[in-house]
Amino acid sequence: MSVDLQIFPSLDPYVKSAKPFIKWAGGKHSVAHTLIDFFPKFFMKYYEPFLGGGSLFFALSPQKAILSDENKWLIDTYIALKNDWKKVTHYLEKMVNNNQEFLKIRSIDPWTLDLFERAAQFIFLNKTCFRGLFRVNSTGRFNVPYGAYNRRYYDSENLEAVASMLTSAEIKSGDFELGIDGVKERDFVYFDPPYYKLGGYSDFNRYTPKKFKEKDHFRLAAICRELDAKGIKWAVSNSNTEFVKALFSGFQIHHVSARREINLDSQSRNVVELLITNYKVSKQ
Ligand SMILES: C[S@@+](CC[C@H](N)C(=O)[O-])C[C@H]1O[C@@H](n2cnc3c(N)ncnc32)[C@H](O)[C@@H]1O
Repeated sequence: MSVDLQIFPSLDPYVKSAKPFIKWAGGKHSVAHTLIDFFPKFFMKYYEPFLGGGSLFFALSPQKAILSDENKWLIDTYIALKNDWKKVTHYLEKMVNNNQEFLKIRSIDPWTLDLFERAAQFIFLNKTCFRGLFRVNSTGRFNVPYGAYNRRYYDSENLEAVASMLTSAEIKSGDFELGIDGVKERDFVYFDPPYYKLGGYSDFNRYTPKKFKEKDHFRLAAICRELDAKGIKWAVSNSNTEFVKALFSGFQIHHVSARREINLDSQSRNVVELLITNYKVSKQ
């Protein structure tokens, strides 16, 4: 075994542990450690091409990571925090949590702001909007109403820890195929795409103006087969549906209990989801 291989979860006492700084539909914060139990114990680079709130990245704390997502505003927020988290908090400090301010900040086109103010706008809107969920319409405009929650919408200590965890990560925006560009044998990829819709429910799919469609699920499965042929390990999360089971037939299919944050009922519920791996899981 090469000495470059990392051991997970990271035990490095010098890395301050951080947690997701946004609330994200399909976020895995509450089940991150359950999922990590299914991950390989050793690998080189960690790839997470459907990053969202980054729950797995933060829980795993890998030394080398390639992080990406198609949502550019989200990714720019990570880049801004990595480059200068203090500049982002400087803007956050000036924002006030009330409806009038929310509507004013929401009405600003993010692409007219500089990187740091755009990141602050993203965090503010995510944390103060109704049910804390990021959702855009077909033209890419954030359209969630005000949430009227009387709570802090950022934690500067956590933002500092996030920035420190991101120092060694490569962060880019774009489609997942671009996100795994350069992946090699002994690296590991965790895929957490927008879920294939469960019967009866239209699963959440408004992270970006372009929806993740059935053809994208086929594309992802084909990429997984290509990686498998190259001996690259991966794990994929998705809904417990016959469609997903058929797409990944021949691989190891695990049933994992997951608490869903966003669904049509007002209360969270426990549902079983799938975690598919192309390696045999050895849980300790
Ligand atoms: C289920 S969420 C990931 C949640 C994340 N694991 C967490 O714990 O917060 C799916 C993510 O895929 C992103 N996405 C949608 N289409 C994509 C694509 N074609 N390529 C890469 N990312 C995409 C969305 O922006 C969203 O952040």
